[in-house]
Amino acid sequence: MGLNACTFVGVNILDGKKCANALLEQIQKQTLEFDKKPHLAAVIVGNDPASKTYVAAKIRACERVGFSSSMVTLPEDYAQEKLLDKIKQLNEDKSIHGFIVQLPLPAHINPQKIILAIDPKKDVDGFHPQNIGKMTIGLPGLRPATPSGIIELLSFYNIKTEGKRCVVLGRSNIVGMPISIMLAQKSKPGNCTVTICHSRTKELSLITKTADILIVAMGKMEYIQANMIKKDAIVIDVGIHRETDPNTKRGYSLKGDVKFSEVAEKSSFITPVPGGVGPLTIASLLNNTLKAYKWQNKT
Ligand code: GUN
Repeated sequence: MGLNACTFVGVNILDGKKCANALLEQIQKQTLEFDKKPHLAAVIVGNDPASKTYVAAKIRACERVGFSSSMVTLPEDYAQEKLLDKIKQLNEDKSIHGFIVQLPLPAHINPQKIILAIDPKKDVDGFHPQNIGKMTIGLPGLRPATPSGIIELLSFYNIKTEGKRCVVLGRSNIVGMPISIMLAQKSKPGNCTVTICHSRTKELSLITKTADILIVAMGKMEYIQANMIKKDAIVIDVGIHRETDPNTKRGYSLKGDVKFSEVAEKSSFITPVPGGVGPLTIASLLNNTLKAYKWQNKT
């Protein structure tokens, strides 16, 4: 039971901002001790507005904790070979401790090739097979940021996971697969009985209704409705979508994969969108950058 969970209108919110702030404060405190600051670089190819927003938020978070940062902005038609050269430069640049290549990439670039080119020691997204392999067998390494953030959130709110049935919707390399592995591991949080569902899963509702913990990373706006969950389930919404909304200054509002208003009433705890998993992805990315920095400087 999450003693710290904030309750309003009868809903227990797992406040991702609050949890992320606590983690960022710890990172900031440690950073104050260093003469040379950890440096995160972010590569963005093309003009996807959502990707630009996410990368800008990552850079702002670096400023907040006292990291150095740089943004490498490349045009939409940037050749794959040139991007591979850029990655080689970042791998070799001793002043940069970690970097990410924001996904999705334009269609002419193979994301797997790009991820494989990143030095695993600087792979602060934790996407390189070497880091995924280390995670899978429980060796120290850089863990994927969003799943690490979910683990952080469950831990922050002291959510008991042992023996719980966890259903993960989505099998992406970024979220679904790694969080399934992490929650199945003999760890705390962990020790869950995990089921992974995906686009070919039949009778999805029958499975989602068995979940004590439902992790939704399917990329379909407001797909999960109240009649698809068990009463008092814990619901973690990883989705983020822009819905046109002329009543807002930006012209859009943010929605998750879960129909929050109705699912919140039936669940015991739920993450909002925005302010749920998103801030934790960023905080975990910075935590990975700090880890990479320490390994590179052997502090
Ligand atoms: N696109 C969506 N999520 C992520 C992430 O965590 N890292 C990168 N590099 N791209 C993303």
